[in-house]
Amino acid sequence: MGWFTRVLMVLAVLAMAAACDGTDDAVVGMNPGGNTGLDAFPPMPSDNPPGASSAARATATALARGVNFGDMLEAPKEGDWDLTVRDEYIAVTAAAGFASVRLPVRWSNHAAARAPFTIEPQFFARVESVVDKLLAKGLYVVLDMHHYRQLDADALDDGEFPVDSAILEQRFLILWQQIAERFRNKNDHLLFELYNEAHGRLTPPRWNDLAARALNVVRKSNLSRIVVVGPTDWNSAEALASLRLPNDANLIVTFHNYEPFRFTHQGAEWVSPVLPTGVTCCTASQQAEAIAPLTMAKAWSDARRYPIFLGEFGAYSKADMTSRVNFTRLVRDQAEARSISWSYWELAHGFGIYDPVAHLWRTPLKDALLGN
Ligand code: BGC
Repeated sequence: MGWFTRVLMVLAVLAMAAACDGTDDAVVGMNPGGNTGLDAFPPMPSDNPPGASSAARATATALARGVNFGDMLEAPKEGDWDLTVRDEYIAVTAAAGFASVRLPVRWSNHAAARAPFTIEPQFFARVESVVDKLLAKGLYVVLDMHHYRQLDADALDDGEFPVDSAILEQRFLILWQQIAERFRNKNDHLLFELYNEAHGRLTPPRWNDLAARALNVVRKSNLSRIVVVGPTDWNSAEALASLRLPNDANLIVTFHNYEPFRFTHQGAEWVSPVLPTGVTCCTASQQAEAIAPLTMAKAWSDARRYPIFLGEFGAYSKADMTSRVNFTRLVRDQAEARSISWSYWELAHGFGIYDPVAHLWRTPLKDALLGN
């Protein structure tokens, strides 16, 4: 679950119903929802995914323990949410022993509304400089497209501009064309993640079609770079069942886990109604809730022969610290027991393990992630 409220979820589904042209079948293999300009971007076939390459498997393992640089580059503008990427964060993350960083980026708010949807040169250079600094530390980087809110039919955030809804998918693909070309020569520690937490308007058929087109776009400039792709319903483990993978071996599949949601998102301002605080963790039944998605994702991974990556988990700061530590340690241990690499949400904000004012780790949380 993202910044998107439960209410927004309902609104998004209603908006989707209004915007779509009826059946799911209508979006498969053709321009989803009557969107224009997609003929130039055929989907990669998805009739026979071969299972993951040894490179994809090795990379999934190498992601190991990671952290999201959240609420920085995926704010409408960097700094809008009181955080910018600082060299300090890169240094402390590498020094602490994290192997990977997931880097969410709101590309959609930094590109022209009209074709050819050119990404702002300054923003592109900014993201590239961050990627380069992370790579220079030897970190793996999962470069993610985050919060293209219109694509999910979510309300825009303050500071966002709308685009013509008929070109949403085409724009998504041309954004990926530009990103993939720009980063084509980076080393193999850089991964692309096609989209964060597809939901709402992005139903499984629509998302499966769009992801297959996006992968084809990426493969034109990046023949074998590892690409991360996740299912709909905010990357839930349950939705893996409806994810249709393209016929490509260099893929890692991602999912997120915020269960038990009433614990992890208590007091979160972006959930409506705001969930009551004072919920501790973790009773036996809460443990079962936290672990179930991991078990489900692992079973999916074994059956489908693609490695799985837990791209987000964490508990918001409104919960008590002891419970947050319990939850974090539990999910980390249970993921690692299943050989699932993970990335904690997130470094230095509401879920943060690092205090950006004191310039200090929140040691109990950091130890829950990295300690013995
Ligand atoms: C969203 C964040 C949110 C987090 C937890 C992420 O996927 O992008 O905005 O804080 O989930 O809800």
